[in-house]
Order: sequence, then structure tokens, then C-alpha cells
Amino acid sequence: MTSIVEAATGRHGFEVAVILGSGLSDLARSLVGGSPVPYSAVPGMPLSTVQGHEGALYAGEVAKVPTLAFAGRVHLYEGRAPSEVTFAVRAAVEAGCRIVILTNAAGGINPDLDAGSLCLISDHLNLTGSNPLTGPNDDSLGPRFLDLSEVYDASLRAMARSVDQALMEGVYAGLPGPTYETPAEVRMLAAMGADLVGMSTVHEAIMARYLGARVLGLSLVTNAAAGLSPEPLSHDEVAAVGARASGRLEIVVRGVIERAAHLGAPAKGEQGRERPT
Ligand code: HPA
Repeated sequence: MTSIVEAATGRHGFEVAVILGSGLSDLARSLVGGSPVPYSAVPGMPLSTVQGHEGALYAGEVAKVPTLAFAGRVHLYEGRAPSEVTFAVRAAVEAGCRIVILTNAAGGINPDLDAGSLCLISDHLNLTGSNPLTGPNDDSLGPRFLDLSEVYDASLRAMARSVDQALMEGVYAGLPGPTYETPAEVRMLAAMGADLVGMSTVHEAIMARYLGARVLGLSLVTNAAAGLSPEPLSHDEVAAVGARASGRLEIVVRGVIERAAHLGAPAKGEQGRERPT
């Protein structure tokens, strides 16, 4: 059967998908190039309403590895359901991708993560109040009770660190937004163990693991989280920092794709260890 991505791009056999968040859409062009397919021409793809999210699919090769780059994503705060937020990941895995690289703009909670820092996501706190796997389970796709003890793949993180030794690692707290946090919420998140805070990624990561893909998460810290700096937070600043720091992000993403081509899917035992509730 023709996949959604094949219907839109005329190509199949992809191995890696990169999803690009706020201010990072330009990276899709420099990474993959070619002529993008607007999301409106991808059957079923939800359209992004946020400035800084282009809404186009780039299909091509990065370091000879067939790669899809999604320039722009949709979020819960746009009124989208978890099934829509995870549409791109599902389409990417259907198109063959076994590695999903999730990028985002995030606020830095850990004081070592100041604006412009790039940070590997080591784990997450899903504080959105929702889960993309809620509802009937299709056992042919993945397990009812998905093990999340290693959402963000350790081998991919090691590869990213071999490309950029200065990369830090941190726990990403995913909130629904669309407001930025209050200073009290940021203190709560710090006490809960979060280093980063943002409004995306956690649902996509869960879905990618469910479908058996390896996940790499990369946050570009665009601002100190609320209350940690005297500056008020603004989306324009988030997008501008994203655009400025995208060169370093591109080097890491390209380096990981080069190194990860041979990895393939995680062994069944690495995924889907079911635990009864
Ligand atoms: N909070 C939530 N999401 C964000 C932030 C933030 O401070 N910066 C960029 N995305």
C-alpha cells in the first residue's frame, strides 16, 4: 500500500525523520534541500498555525541516508488532539523511518542552560495531562502498556555527544501551553527534576517509541525560563534565537544521521516491555 509520505513525495524507503520546531524550519532546507511539499498537499497532515513553523515536508538525503524533514509541527495549544500532534511521527514510521529526531525550542530551567545552549533530552516529564496512546490499542502496532524506561535512545545520545562534546543533557518537562509558565511553576518544575520546559515533543516521543523507532530529542534553549531572568518572554525572541543557533544544531543532526545509518530498529526487547497495571 502506498504510504501517506509516498503519496505526497513520490518517494519511499526513508530511514530517518527530523521534526523541526519553532524557528528551526530553515534547517529542513539546509539539511535536506530540494523542493518541499506543503503540508496542505500531504493527505491528512494537520496544518500549523504558529509563526516560525513553515508547514512543509522535505524529502531527500542527508549523508546519503534517505531522510524526511518536517518543517513545522502542530501543538496541543492550537486545539489539536494528541492524534494530530503525532501525525507526522506516524507518517514517518509508516514511510520506513526507524530513527526519529525531535527538535524543539525550550526554556532553560537548569541555570547552566542559558539562551543559545543546545541540550540533549535525556528523559521527559509528560505534564500535558494527555497521552497519545489513550483509547483502544491496536496490538499489531505496539503494546498496550509501553515501557518508557528509555524513551530517548542512549546510543543516539552517545553519537550526538561524539559529534559535539559540549552537548549537555537534561530532563524536558512538556506542558500544554500556550502561556509561558509562571515563576512559581518554574520553581515547581525545577523541584520535580526538570532542566528544560516546552510545549511539544513528549507525545511525539511516546508515539515513536510505541511504533518501535529510536528517538533522539534535542532542545535549543531560547530563553531562561520565567522568573530566572528579568526579561519578559516573547515568541519573537524564541524564534530569533532558534534561527541564530540552528547552525550548531544542523552539525549535530547531520553527524548523528551519518553515524546512525547502520543502527536499525531497537531489538524487540528494548521496546515494548509490558508491565501490568
Ligand atoms: N516555556 C515553554 N515553552 C517554551 C519556552 C518556555 O520558556 N521557551 C521556548 N518554548
